[in-house]
Amino acid sequence: MTDVQGILERRLDSAWRRGEPSAVLPDYRERMAALLLVNEEIAKATAFFVEAVAGVEDLATLQAVRNAALSRETGAFTEALALMPSLSVEQKRVWGKALNLAKQLVEAAEKAKRESLERAREDALTLDVTLPGRRPWAGRPHVLAQVRDELLDLFHGLGYSVYTSPEVERDEYNFGKLNFAPDHPARDAHDTYFVSPEVVLRPHTSPGWVRAMEEGKPPPRLVFPGRVYRAEAVDASHMDQFHQIDGLAVGRSVSMADLKATLHTFARAIYRGDVPTRIIPIYFPFVEPGVQMDVQCAACSGEGRIRDEHGEHRCPVCKGTRWVEVLGAGMVHPNVFRAVGYDPEQVTGFAFGMGLERIAMGRHGIHEIRQFLENDVRFLEQF
Ligand code: DAH
Repeated sequence: MTDVQGILERRLDSAWRRGEPSAVLPDYRERMAALLLVNEEIAKATAFFVEAVAGVEDLATLQAVRNAALSRETGAFTEALALMPSLSVEQKRVWGKALNLAKQLVEAAEKAKRESLERAREDALTLDVTLPGRRPWAGRPHVLAQVRDELLDLFHGLGYSVYTSPEVERDEYNFGKLNFAPDHPARDAHDTYFVSPEVVLRPHTSPGWVRAMEEGKPPPRLVFPGRVYRAEAVDASHMDQFHQIDGLAVGRSVSMADLKATLHTFARAIYRGDVPTRIIPIYFPFVEPGVQMDVQCAACSGEGRIRDEHGEHRCPVCKGTRWVEVLGAGMVHPNVFRAVGYDPEQVTGFAFGMGLERIAMGRHGIHEIRQFLENDVRFLEQF
């Protein structure tokens, strides 16, 4: 008759951890004692199953132990009970009673263990409403987009609309109609990326004026934001792509005084309200006269020198010049009006163009232009 015990023990898995049955089933000892009185061998095999049930730590393992013992088709107790018909009446009485007690014991332990595991799982799922909430990660506009939007807001308030023009531009719009001489150095592949002999990656946003004026009737008052490209050696202050905003105002009697007032308003809004500015002459092919606006260097407060722990030395931001260049501007050249079909005897206009990176770097003390494109959140989340 030891094959009944064999059937039971064959199904025990040595990988099961064993636990303390009384912890699962408070009346385990009494029930085991009763079983031992009926049959010692079955009692021993049963103890293994109940210890395995007590030792499991998750519902999947519990199910495996349960199946090994109690599965209707292949469970150890099912198989052992199937032997009963072949036994003598006396054997049937003893083994049958023992197996039934044993099976009930394993079932009770399994049920108790399942309930406690399920309770534990529910407890783990319970929300602790007193925990502080987790702040969802929220993105924000890129620092350059912030500067751009601030400028667009400002110019919107001055009556300007936004005009976007292509980043891949025809040579003619980029240079010819903007009054660049045929041999101007900017037309060299050294400075400008050529896609083909007639097509460039625009090196500035000024060709937008030509497109806008060809399309519409005067008087336009427009700003042209966008990305520009230059064949530059890349370093801490140069990238081969960056961003500009050009502006253009054309009308019957637009004057240099209007330009100065506009630039003044821009500088007051974007820099400190009392920042000193200056306008000096400079050459651009598409304006006459052409000017450059500088603001007083913020790093040295216009002194050209700074004092720090290394002593007094030349200001590294303005290189001792006291001024930082902010933009180019001027009165639209008559040749540009002619190129777009406007009559320079009838209209005048001013234009200006500025770099967004430079403004953002000045404002936030950023010394490395490449950071704008690196998409390092540790950098970006500071703004
Ligand atoms: N397009 C010039 C550049 O990229 C900047 C500029 C100068 C724009 C004068 C203007 C202007 O609108 O009037 O260097």
